[in-house]
Amino acid sequence: MTNKIQIFDTTLRDGEQVPGCQLKTHEKVIIAKELEALGVDVIEAGFPISSPGDFLSVVEISKAVKNVTVCGLTRSKKDDIDVAAEALHHAKHGRIHTGIGSSDVHIKHKFKSSREQVLEQGVWAVKYAKAKGYEVEFFAEDAGRADLAFLAQLTEAVIEAGADVVNIPDTTGYCLPHLYGKRIQYLFDHVKNIDKAVISVHCHNDLGLATANTIAGLTNGARQAEVTINGIGERAGNTSLEEIAMILQVHKDLDLYTNIKSERIFEISQLVSSMMHMPVQPNKAIVGANAFSHSSGIHQDGFLKHAENYEIINPADVGVSNSSIVLTARSGRAALKHRMELLGHKFEGEELNTLYENFLLVADEKKEVVNNDLLVLAANMLVLAR
Ligand code: KIV
Ligand code: ZN
Repeated sequence: MTNKIQIFDTTLRDGEQVPGCQLKTHEKVIIAKELEALGVDVIEAGFPISSPGDFLSVVEISKAVKNVTVCGLTRSKKDDIDVAAEALHHAKHGRIHTGIGSSDVHIKHKFKSSREQVLEQGVWAVKYAKAKGYEVEFFAEDAGRADLAFLAQLTEAVIEAGADVVNIPDTTGYCLPHLYGKRIQYLFDHVKNIDKAVISVHCHNDLGLATANTIAGLTNGARQAEVTINGIGERAGNTSLEEIAMILQVHKDLDLYTNIKSERIFEISQLVSSMMHMPVQPNKAIVGANAFSHSSGIHQDGFLKHAENYEIINPADVGVSNSSIVLTARSGRAALKHRMELLGHKFEGEELNTLYENFLLVADEKKEVVNNDLLVLAANMLVLAR
């Protein structure tokens, strides 16, 4: 089995479903080109039958990118597949992503159907999509809650029908990492033709476990991860691309890799955030404003002695120009001295102690002490010294 993990980016489909995140076609094309430059393997460009705008976006993205597979989502319905096939006409590498609910909850309460009928419809959809001449990925929606034996039966049947990729989504973000990993392992142990397809993981973040579940899926044999920039997506979002790329880069022990050019991560994160009007939370891993910012005295002192004391990623590796030290009432003398030196002022010994006492008075009044405040403090020290 290969160690390469295919990155399937669904920022423009699952991500774009978020209220307020809708993009115009030309904006989607800009993001798609950036995703191509970032090194993703597949771009899910939209759900062509859902609206004329989505159809057009899939058409234009198919024309605009060449080194990446372009994918269109469908339900297991003839019209959906016909429209997706048409939208992908210009794609150098096109993929139809079709599927149906696989859990009993979905089968009973969404489709008012039976396992047998769902299996039959899924198999039919894969064969119909395959006949259009594209790669076919099948999604077993809500696989995280599906009966495992049935999920295995369905997986085997759609692979037999010609599916190139089978997506095992934790649609509701329900699974715990060790159990999601076991689900994937179960499929490898029970689906006899599993080596004929790539198994894909698509996790939602309702319990904050999307990234952990994705990693559990990959370490149990899945070779495609479905992700979005900044983790945007339905409800609490999807697994974030930047987290998966950097986990695999930092944890060489996992012996898995992607083609992501990590130094482009920060730029695309900012682009998606501003185009979608979706701010990135400051404490977001990898791309949040505080991800490389140190604020407590103990951490600042350790960081200034040796960055690796408190950083497991070099900010340059994700395109962040440098780490930052934020000066607050929790900061220590080392950070204050360091910042003053950057501003051209050297303080040592007793002078530094006095400066620090004055600094704390300002810091208790303000959330953050900025360079202007420090220059005033330095000027006051000079007056005192006269
Ligand atoms: O979460 C999900 O199950 C999906 C499918 C359409 C793949 O987004
Ligand atoms: Zn989803």
